[in-house]
Amino acid sequence: MTTKNSPNGEFCVVSVTSKILYTGEMNKRISTLLRMLLIITLVVLVLLAVVVYSYLAPGPAVPGNPLYRNSSASIDDRVNNLMSYMTLREKIGQMALVEKNSLEELADLQTYGIGGMLSGFGGRPEENTQAGWYDMVTEFVSTSKQSRLGIPVLYGVDAIHGHSNVLGATIFPHTIGLGATGDTELVRRVAEATAKEMIATNIHWSYSPTLDMPEDIRWGRAYETFSDDPALVSRLGTAYLQGLQGAERGRPQLLATPKHYIGLGGMVFDTSSNKNFRIDQGMTPQDESRLRTHYLPPFKEAVDAGALSVMVGLNTWGDTKLAASSYLMQTVLKDELGFEGFLVSDWYGVYEIPGGDFRAAITAINAGVDMVMLPFDYEQFTQNVWVATKLGLIDEARIDDAVKRILKAKFAVGLFDEPATTSAEVFGSDEHRAIAREAVAKSLVLLKNDNNLLPLKPGTSIKVAGSAADNIGRQSGAWTIEWQGIDGNWLPGATSILAGLQAVAPRDTTIEYSLTGEFPTAEKADIGIAVVGEAPYAEGWGDTPEPKLSEEDIAAIARLREQSEKVVVVLVTGRPLMVSELVADWDAVVVAWLPGSEGAGVADGLFGATPFTGTLPLPWPASVSQLPIVNNQTANGTIPLFPRYFGLK
Ligand code: BGC
Repeated sequence: MTTKNSPNGEFCVVSVTSKILYTGEMNKRISTLLRMLLIITLVVLVLLAVVVYSYLAPGPAVPGNPLYRNSSASIDDRVNNLMSYMTLREKIGQMALVEKNSLEELADLQTYGIGGMLSGFGGRPEENTQAGWYDMVTEFVSTSKQSRLGIPVLYGVDAIHGHSNVLGATIFPHTIGLGATGDTELVRRVAEATAKEMIATNIHWSYSPTLDMPEDIRWGRAYETFSDDPALVSRLGTAYLQGLQGAERGRPQLLATPKHYIGLGGMVFDTSSNKNFRIDQGMTPQDESRLRTHYLPPFKEAVDAGALSVMVGLNTWGDTKLAASSYLMQTVLKDELGFEGFLVSDWYGVYEIPGGDFRAAITAINAGVDMVMLPFDYEQFTQNVWVATKLGLIDEARIDDAVKRILKAKFAVGLFDEPATTSAEVFGSDEHRAIAREAVAKSLVLLKNDNNLLPLKPGTSIKVAGSAADNIGRQSGAWTIEWQGIDGNWLPGATSILAGLQAVAPRDTTIEYSLTGEFPTAEKADIGIAVVGEAPYAEGWGDTPEPKLSEEDIAAIARLREQSEKVVVVLVTGRPLMVSELVADWDAVVVAWLPGSEGAGVADGLFGATPFTGTLPLPWPASVSQLPIVNNQTANGTIPLFPRYFGLK
């Protein structure tokens, strides 16, 4: 009891009474509060139960033989019919694209109704062979088909220069080499052969062709492009798409994915949003007129040629991440160009939109992304998008539109019926390797040829040196078995450039080889061939302030110079290298790009079996101060070392 400073006991009594009264009041309040808490908890629990029930609620029952299973019905009817049985949750699952190593359990394909899976580059089965891939993909597809609605998962890979994840595949020249051939029909054949090797592994979705256009070759992805010229990119990109998709049965055999929508190659140096990079994932200046006249035409042609999926890039257009731009995706691509396929975001690209994962997914989907290359956490994504839709933050009609586009592509490529198949024999076949070799020979660009040194004459003594002469990993570049490639002389079934020279050289020709150019014989050879160039790199890891030859390669050339009458330099590179101070000392120069597994194609050019017809698909700068080169105009107004389309015959 508190006495306070009571002058008489009265106050104390009153005080005691108040306290009793007060305590009673308190108890009442507490019990009211507890009652309220109980009610709130019950309400929350009931609400949660309703939410969980509605999240997990089974969709409408499907009759024994639904229309969507009837292969002679129209695709639109089949899509609409299938959609009528789908729950919101099943629809959102279709919008998820998951990296295969992120799939926690096989059954999740059914639980979440996952729409797409991919092998992040190098994401391979235990047995990295055609059969190993076939079995892995088939298991994913058949598991997905056992779900309530039996919607097959769409499996995608980056077959950007052949089905180059897989050991034993034909590795074609990287795209820049195809650009140098300028040969539409040949590019179509390369793509057809690539498609066959993909289909032999039960894969019907490729993240190619690349329609980017590099203005600044300090970018680590220049070699993934055909050219910086929209006309050439449109022509070859469309041929590639048609070759991949085929049309034998009046429908695509495989889905091509023109990428990266849009403005890639136009980024400003040192604007990358990735702290490890310099220009990849950087900022492309927002320029409406350049959008229309430069970046858009190749995509327009691809859409007109039947593209059913397009990949959105990781760069920004002005300040806006592409995957957040409703103007570029919805207004321009879908509404104006009439693109009816689905837009897939690039690796983790949606989550690079500021605002946190929940908001980022809402922004991207509202802006027009249809399938999200998560690539990891599908559980969180599907739940977030479901909640956001229920809260009205995403319009359900937008979800329906996205899913319709995805299903349409799946029906179009025959996934619900009998998708295209091919025999395992096509994989890495002699026929495909012959196409690759032809592409290598036709991609060679002759930049200098003093006194018609090339083609090499019979009866020549040759010394060969340089880092790329006997290094199949280097001549193949990145995106070969590993994302960043493997620098070294390996790759079953492939031929190094040196091995190609030895095989193709006329009998009376002698060939000696030393990596460094240090030969045991002091005798001068007629010709020194230096095969030099870049070590493999992919994406922003290949960004560099100055693409150039290594000190080792420069030393090897110098040694060859001393030990041979004439020097031929073969550049194995994904982009122009800064050689203007060296080139005067070389008698002949050939650019071989990144030729891939068929190194003998280089010898075909050097020994004259195939004439030189290749031309530079982009200008070759004299120095980095000329970069970027926009519409053939260098940054400092000086002329490049060699202009676009230069190539001696
Ligand atoms: C690249 C894309 C590629 C994707 C899937 C990304 O890092 O930017 O070109 O298709 O990975 O491998």
